[in-house]
Amino acid sequence: MLGDIENMEKVSTELSSVKELFKELEAIISSSYDGMFIADEKGVVLRVNVAYERITGIRASEVLGKNLKDLVAAGYYDQSVTLLVIEKREIVTINQTVKNNNKILVTGNPIFDEKGDLFRVVTNVRDITELVSLQSQLLKTKEQTLKYKTELSHLRALHIGNKEIISRSPKMAQVIELATKIADVDSIVLINGESGTGKELIAKLIHKKGKGTSKPFIKINCAAIPEQLLESELFGYEGGAFTGARKEGKPGLFELAHNGTLFLDEIGDLPLLLQVKLLRAIQEKEFIRVGGTKTITFNARIIAATHRNIAKMVKEDVFREDLYYRLMVVPIYLSPLRERKEDVPLLIMHFIDKFNNRFGFNKKIIPQVIDKLVEYSWPGNVRELENIVERMMVTAPTEEITMNLVPETIMDKSFSPKRLTKLKDAVEETEKYLLSENFKEYGSWKKVAEILGIDRTTVFRKVVRYGLEKR
Ligand SMILES: Nc1ncnc2c1ncn2[C@@H]1O[C@H](COP(=O)(O)OP(=O)(O)OP(=O)(O)O)[C@@H](O)[C@H]1O
Ligand SMILES: [Mg+2]
Repeated sequence: MLGDIENMEKVSTELSSVKELFKELEAIISSSYDGMFIADEKGVVLRVNVAYERITGIRASEVLGKNLKDLVAAGYYDQSVTLLVIEKREIVTINQTVKNNNKILVTGNPIFDEKGDLFRVVTNVRDITELVSLQSQLLKTKEQTLKYKTELSHLRALHIGNKEIISRSPKMAQVIELATKIADVDSIVLINGESGTGKELIAKLIHKKGKGTSKPFIKINCAAIPEQLLESELFGYEGGAFTGARKEGKPGLFELAHNGTLFLDEIGDLPLLLQVKLLRAIQEKEFIRVGGTKTITFNARIIAATHRNIAKMVKEDVFREDLYYRLMVVPIYLSPLRERKEDVPLLIMHFIDKFNNRFGFNKKIIPQVIDKLVEYSWPGNVRELENIVERMMVTAPTEEITMNLVPETIMDKSFSPKRLTKLKDAVEETEKYLLSENFKEYGSWKKVAEILGIDRTTVFRKVVRYGLEKR
């Protein structure tokens, strides 16, 4: 009797602790932020929590007590993780898309009883809609970065690689050889030559052969930037360094050229004060941003260029001698085009090809025009030649570039009759030209007769016949 009571008490305490456990379990399941879905060993749905309803948009009353096979058949789910767990008797994770189009990650866990038989399948459901969209955003960003990278390297190659250097003169051959030889070392190069001789082209060649097209080639035109901005352009500035400066500061070109080449164009126009700062930066291989305190080291290769006579500027005290010697480590001199006339025909053909390609033309140039262009002195060098070829091509009414397209400035310098004239007319034209041009120059018919090697009476007769005496 006593034993029974004791037993009863024991059972009742056990019962209340089980009840408590049940309450606790109930609270855990319903408060879980992840969805929970419990089925028995046959796939009959026993329990779903509130989170599950929220995530899937499926109400508990729709599925409770039903077998998952029927629910799949009814189109609630495209596949059932519970059925997969029952089949495989192990943990299964799958991605699913549910009724409201949410993306969910479901993991089914098999629960076994003491005998090792499957007893329940507890499935955990997580809303990964946001994760999936973040993932696809990340993927897009990665794709875009890749696209920009490819574009950048393409642009760099275009910028540096495609510009062939056209030449056949020994002078240019020497320049190219020297440029190639020094490409791999980091010595400072100073390129000197008249405007339009190809200084930038050579600088890019050195960069391409040495650093390679994947490294930055940063150019600054020292003549084009106002003196007060030049320092911050070169060395960058710290946030708030001066009024109008950006809050977060800005890296200078020295920093941007890191591992690559810094091309200081028109170095002859660098103001004296900046010459000091440049010299210091070159010597120490480090610099400080404007308004900053931290020293920054740099390892960019420096190539400078100018059309000015720096030696003369040093004598005149407008260019620092010490900087001059620093820059003169490897001097490269580009001859003006008039001193390497053998390059002219080749350059003409190169530019004709270039503009035929660019404009979709198929234009040709007649040999007389080439001869004429070879004679000219080209004060603007290759750039002037390029511009004139382009102008003649775009203004030519036919596929042929003929003498009448040659600009006045070039024609004026000499005379040659048109190809398809009668000999008699050509002789007359030539006589007229020689008489009047020489008279213009010397102002005396007597002198003209002397120069042309004919007697004075012949000169006078021709002058009257051509009506030149009025001039
Ligand atoms: N040897 C060459 N072969 C082909 N193109 C050339 C050659 N030399 C110069 N050019 C072309 O002529 C133009 C002028 O060249 P570049 O800009 O290199 O000259 P520059 O000496 O830097 O002139 P500037 O002193 O006026 O800045 C460019 O379009 C360049 O591509
Ligand atoms: Mg230039």
